Amino acid sequence: MNVTVRGRSQHFRTVTFDRAQNAVLLIEQRLLPHEFKIVATPDFRATAAAITDMIVRGAGAIGATAAYGLAQGALAFRGRDPKKFSAHVETVYQVLKNARPTAVDPVNAMNDVRRHMSPGQTVAERQFLALAAAEEFAREDVQHCEEIGRHGAKLIRNGMKILTHCNAGWLAFVDIGTATAPMYAAQEQGKQFHVFCGETRPRSQGATLTAWEFAQQKISHQIIADNAAGHLMQRGEIDLVIVGSDRTLGRTGEVTNKIGTYTKAVLAARHKIPFYVAIPLSTIDWNLKRGFDIPIEERNESEVLGAWGVIDNSKFKIQNSKLKQRAYVRVANPTSGARNPGFDVTPAELITGVITPAGIFKPQELWKQRSKLGFGGQQSVRLRNLT
Ligand code: MRU
Repeated sequence: MNVTVRGRSQHFRTVTFDRAQNAVLLIEQRLLPHEFKIVATPDFRATAAAITDMIVRGAGAIGATAAYGLAQGALAFRGRDPKKFSAHVETVYQVLKNARPTAVDPVNAMNDVRRHMSPGQTVAERQFLALAAAEEFAREDVQHCEEIGRHGAKLIRNGMKILTHCNAGWLAFVDIGTATAPMYAAQEQGKQFHVFCGETRPRSQGATLTAWEFAQQKISHQIIADNAAGHLMQRGEIDLVIVGSDRTLGRTGEVTNKIGTYTKAVLAARHKIPFYVAIPLSTIDWNLKRGFDIPIEERNESEVLGAWGVIDNSKFKIQNSKLKQRAYVRVANPTSGARNPGFDVTPAELITGVITPAGIFKPQELWKQRSKLGFGGQQSVRLRNLT
């Protein structure tokens, strides 16, 4: 997507790879919307830490980062012994897999990379194949988002008011995004609509990232407090909900997404508002049989007890200090603790449809449509199967 910083517009991808430095290049999402900066992770452990610390976040973006991180780790191996190389790659895989537990994209992405590496006869060949497969995953992520946009734009009519939650925009993928893809495609078609971005406490991805994306893309939008969604629905001010997902179960149609998604789905059902989930194929988990078994990340309580933001020192006339400083402020009662589950699971019956690169399906139909949706196949096979 094009980013305009200090009046200059340039195309960026959320995640790229620098072969010369053997580094993954990431947009530092924790600084947005106040500062736009690209950072390089010098080795696979730093890449895993960037996922854990949410320098990069969002299912597809951490999928691509893990794929590049696996290639980065493989490329850093010195030696020719295939057994030692395989053991090293296994370590890299485990470190990246454990960086964040809920999203399935990193695991699917790294499994693809490993599958593509295996025909290599030598360490050097496998290293080459690893990076080629990671590049392919990133390329395919963008293609899937384009296809989602093509299918999903049909749901958006002139004058609609749409609610989205968290950030399933281009910052959450390599480019374009999933929940936002239909909106960007509808905008290109000249449709007029307005989007409410749920602020998404505790980390505020809606208020910081989605709102920044929409401002960059000149999409009419407003941020709402998470608790305002029900009120707006009751007053007829929301016509459509589109969210992303970190893991969607192919067998049951249950959708894991940022905490608060389930609440919005219940509200949408109560008010008979269509509720759609947009996903690339890498977000489908074909193995798990029930949503209860999805590992839900529990994050640090400090996220709930306070908030990160920017202090504008120019207002306080503080001499010799950086004008804008990122700072954490404690909001909650100082002696209280907090629970902080990062995700929740929305049952299939609350979901109107799942927008995929292969079309829009009822969540309960995913299993029946599995051959179209890449079940058991490699990424490249999945691509050829797209309709
Ligand atoms: O914790 P995050 O910011 O990585 O979570 C991302 C989400 O859960 C978003 O809701 C998004 O919709 C799914 S990722 C495309």
